[in-house]
Amino acid sequence: MQRSVRLNSFELVARDINDVDVELLHALSISVRWPHRPKDWDLLRRAGHGIVAVDGIGRVFGSAMWFPHGDDFATIGLVITTPRAQAQGGGRWLMEQVLEQCGDRNLALNATHPAYPLYISLGFTSEAIDYMRQGQVPQTLPPMPALDGELSDLPSDRLGDITALDARAFGTNRARLLALLSEGASISTLSRAGEVVGYSMCREFGRGYVIGPIVARSDQDAVHLTAVHLKKLAGQFARVDTRERDGAFAEFLQQSGLGIAETVTTMSKGRRFLNRESNEPWVYGLAGHALS
Ligand SMILES: CC(C)(COP(=O)(O)OP(=O)(O)OC[C@H]1O[C@@H](n2cnc3c(N)ncnc32)[C@H](O)[C@@H]1OP(=O)(O)O)[C@@H](O)C(=O)NCCC(=O)NCCS
Repeated sequence: MQRSVRLNSFELVARDINDVDVELLHALSISVRWPHRPKDWDLLRRAGHGIVAVDGIGRVFGSAMWFPHGDDFATIGLVITTPRAQAQGGGRWLMEQVLEQCGDRNLALNATHPAYPLYISLGFTSEAIDYMRQGQVPQTLPPMPALDGELSDLPSDRLGDITALDARAFGTNRARLLALLSEGASISTLSRAGEVVGYSMCREFGRGYVIGPIVARSDQDAVHLTAVHLKKLAGQFARVDTRERDGAFAEFLQQSGLGIAETVTTMSKGRRFLNRESNEPWVYGLAGHALS
């Protein structure tokens, strides 16, 4: 694989993403109007692997990351080419190297509109639309369905209570990622008859807070697992990434001030990623775009 590429007059080489200053990554994401703070990049770098395209004086022109879950699955994200170097093969070059690093793993990602043709050409297929919903949380939340069960806070040293449930919903055990995300996050669980049937995390991200993952068995449960965080975020900026197009959960988010800001397409390569079964737990809210 070619480890250097020429974009405009810039001769770029691939470097490990951990070798560059986080402020350069922050500048890169700002260049494409993404909300990531340096702290968000730090967390993502701890969660996964990646490369950057840099020039001879260390300027960063592009990035691509992958996040392994278990031995046979990974998600891909943070694929960025800075605007002045786009449409010259840089995105494809970054992706080809990440695919090589991922080896035989089954893959999933959430494609923005500009990236969609690139992923199609690399053999990814579409599975679902993901709605990025965000906005300022109102002082009063809309009416909610009756709560069936008991909501509790989960201390971060009790993640074992939700790992198996999460794996059933996500399709792969991602205990390591959950442990990283839980640092500084509030975690809520919903229990019925002593069994944990759903959970949600809320953490600082970008312009405010992201609520996700949200794992639940029904729209009603997902509403309560989201509302428990929204109640504490009145007046603040919050985001939920969800594949629910309509139904009680989507309506609740809409009425809670979280309108659709953007859509992306969930795509996979290898085994199918999204396998929803009735009465089984389901990922109502994503951990993040890059993390799926
Ligand atoms: C998506 C993105 C990474 C593509 O990077 P890039 O360096 O421009 O990509 P490439 O030049 O390698 O082009 C890849 C493919 O995209 C398509 N493409 C790129 N620029 C295009 C343009 N201006 N018009 C139409 N298609 C275009 C082409 O299909 C191209 O395929 P080709 O190699 O057969 O021509 C870049 O646009 C970007 O950073 N966008 C903002 C952040 C983002 O959305 N990231 C994706 C996250 S999933």
